[in-house]
Amino acid sequence: MEGSRQGSSEAASAAATPLQAAVRLDAVSIAFTLKGGKRYVAVEGIDLAVRPGEFVAVVGPTGSGKSTILNAAAGLLKPAAGRVEIFGQPLPRLNARAGYLFQADALMPWKTALDNVAVALEPQGVRRAEARERARAWLGRVGLATFTDRYPHMLSGGQRKRVALAQMLIRDPEILLMDEPFGPLDAQTRQIMGNLLLDLWAQNRKAVIFVTHDLEEAIALSDRVVVLSAGPAARVVGDFPVPLDRPRDISEIRLESRFHDLYREIWSCLRVEVSRAYAGGPA
Ligand SMILES: Nc1ncnc2c1ncn2[C@@H]1O[C@H](COP(=O)(O)OP(=O)(O)OP(=O)(O)O)[C@@H](O)[C@H]1O
Ligand SMILES: [Mg+2]
Repeated sequence: MEGSRQGSSEAASAAATPLQAAVRLDAVSIAFTLKGGKRYVAVEGIDLAVRPGEFVAVVGPTGSGKSTILNAAAGLLKPAAGRVEIFGQPLPRLNARAGYLFQADALMPWKTALDNVAVALEPQGVRRAEARERARAWLGRVGLATFTDRYPHMLSGGQRKRVALAQMLIRDPEILLMDEPFGPLDAQTRQIMGNLLLDLWAQNRKAVIFVTHDLEEAIALSDRVVVLSAGPAARVVGDFPVPLDRPRDISEIRLESRFHDLYREIWSCLRVEVSRAYAGGPA
């Protein structure tokens, strides 16, 4: 990909052949029609392959197209050009093999934590009693065993995120799409949630696309950090493997010198795009 910085990711990319990739975006462009009929090309020529079990973080300036890419992988947006493949098959409509964790709270305020999680099994036709039993077990795994009967407004921001995590994971999706899921939380709670996510992921590795503004969080969690350019027509400008040992404690790993080296390397790529975004996008 011309003009892009690859870090030393050729090996990672080469391993992701079409059949092996859980998610593959191949030369994907997405455009929106604005009022008056004008077209806005948000992302252009995006190549991104995520292997089964691989944790990929996507960073980029605000408005660069991170959510747009997740929406394309979920089947919520149709590419104007290029194709999306899920486990080697063209994505027909919605991506039924993916779970999506949105940035905004998506819990139903009229349902308890238990019912918010149990309801995720409804489309699979699981009986209510069994769904509630499995939901109780999941709430236990995310540390909310004693909060099952609380309504969302009775939970803290971090607790609501735990419920949302359980709601996504109970369906056992093969692909996790996560859009700044811990964005509104304070730094300490973000780290606790990050460690919880890594623990759960380590038990049952899924392909993850994790969007975040926070480069430290991206490096601490992921196997690979992909950097998007400023929009319009944003593209992938960096693809950096994260060769840090697992299991990781994401509060501790930030103190390692290898972490700092990686941060500097990736930030030198991201910084340029962040400045461009604030200057109004590329010329
Ligand atoms: N429905 C839409 N109609 C028109 N433009 C849109 C639409 N959705 C997104 N865009 C534009 O596409 C670009 C990418 O948006 P996107 O939400 O993917 O950015 P992002 O990288 O997720 O930003 P942030 O970090 O702020 O969440 C933005 O310029 C946005 O204004
Ligand atoms: Mg977004």
